[in-house]
Amino acid sequence: MVGKASRIACIGAGYVGLATSLCLAGAGFDVTCADRDAAKVASLSAGRCTLGEAGMAGMLRDALDAGRLRFTVSNAEAIAGSGMAFICVWTPQGPDGKADLSSLFAVARDIGANMAGRMDVVVKSTVPAGTARKVREAIVRAAPDAVRAYGLEVLSCPEFLRESSAIRDTLHPSRVVIGCDDDGAALRLRETMEAMVAPGTPFVMTGPESAETLKYAANAFLSMKVAFINEVAGYCEAVGADVRDVSRGLGMDDRIGPKFLAAGPGFSGGCFPKDLAALLHEGRSLGVPLMILEATAESNMAQRRRLAGKVATALGDPAAPPGSSLRGRLIAILGLSFKQGTGDMRDSVSLYFARELCARGASLSLFDPEASQKVGEFLGELMPSIKVCPDEYGAAAGADAVVILTDWPRFAAMDLGRLGAVMGRRLIFDYRNVLSGAEAAAEGFEYHGVGV
Ligand code: UGA
Repeated sequence: MVGKASRIACIGAGYVGLATSLCLAGAGFDVTCADRDAAKVASLSAGRCTLGEAGMAGMLRDALDAGRLRFTVSNAEAIAGSGMAFICVWTPQGPDGKADLSSLFAVARDIGANMAGRMDVVVKSTVPAGTARKVREAIVRAAPDAVRAYGLEVLSCPEFLRESSAIRDTLHPSRVVIGCDDDGAALRLRETMEAMVAPGTPFVMTGPESAETLKYAANAFLSMKVAFINEVAGYCEAVGADVRDVSRGLGMDDRIGPKFLAAGPGFSGGCFPKDLAALLHEGRSLGVPLMILEATAESNMAQRRRLAGKVATALGDPAAPPGSSLRGRLIAILGLSFKQGTGDMRDSVSLYFARELCARGASLSLFDPEASQKVGEFLGELMPSIKVCPDEYGAAAGADAVVILTDWPRFAAMDLGRLGAVMGRRLIFDYRNVLSGAEAAAEGFEYHGVGV
């Protein structure tokens, strides 16, 4: 257990900031987590967890009960008295793909204005190479005297957690990456992280630019793997192969590995598309060719277009004027979150499908076990052509087709007889390959998977 003096500030209470705060508090540190969202701070302070991540609610209660975790809307309050500050704010995609770092630099200025002793600033947000140095410069500009008097180091420590396993990934990361030129600060952060993560976790100690690049490269590589298997899936469809068998056999080669080889509607969510766009922007502005990754982004969009196009072709009236080929058709979309295990709809492929099908005149009935209540926020502009249903059978009632977009296990367990009985036409687009095509066919469905 670490000493009481170890006070840490965590700025941002999203997936990364909240998981980091809870795990640091669980390791015995005294943590103050700041977020500008007052409703979120009030909820967390009252012990009501704002994310549905496994383990979080219990850890939140424990940390609050032990008095090791506080939430505040004030960055100043979190920073004052802390010797280490984790920056975990969102770095959204700006126009032209560039990462928008304005929140990050606002935090840097707050750190300068409120530091009252030596400060190690740890950048966890996903940022382009060179950002940790710029954060240091920003703090020095904001508070040259404080930096001179107390000392300041800015380190990169990128986060690799996945939504839906945020706590597990934070406590059991495949590696911890620390990027810093100062050995003393790097060691202080390493000791802090070692107190939090599982024993034996490997550390990659490097310079800040390498750490920052490693994070973008990791997400880009995984994005590329998904885009790759989706292209192979298209090929499989053309030649009568089954991409699931191809993936299984590919994954047995330990140089390739089995993960991120599930064909589907393309990668989406709050991270991969944004981080790929940011890296491509960096490459273009530096004149560095990132041709494979340019193709990855394009291929991912092409996959969406191809799969939505198949729905439109199967159901559409080819003679109808543009914007009305699906008029009069009701399509059920099952799955709105960008992957199973989360209610997150940010940049989800379901948004693309919903807009695309509505733009051709279709009406939609939607269901998701976690994200349904967010439909108004993300797809409000499509009302009244869309309606949200309480379950998959309600969504399928009277529908001309069902389109599965999220790999929720409950969709694999659907009663296809019951589903078909309520539908207007037994047509299913299983874009996560969760069903058996043979079983669907036995229930009288016209079945379309991805790469099968
Ligand atoms: C991703 C990375 O996996 C994390 O390591 C990283 O920390 C995080 O981004 C981030 O930068 O914050 P996450 O966005 O939670 O995590 O989602 P993933 O599980 O990686 O899935 C990304 C997308 O790829 C989803 O749309 C998923 O459905 C899709 N995918 C994934 C496939 O289509 N096929 C696969 O085989 C795997």
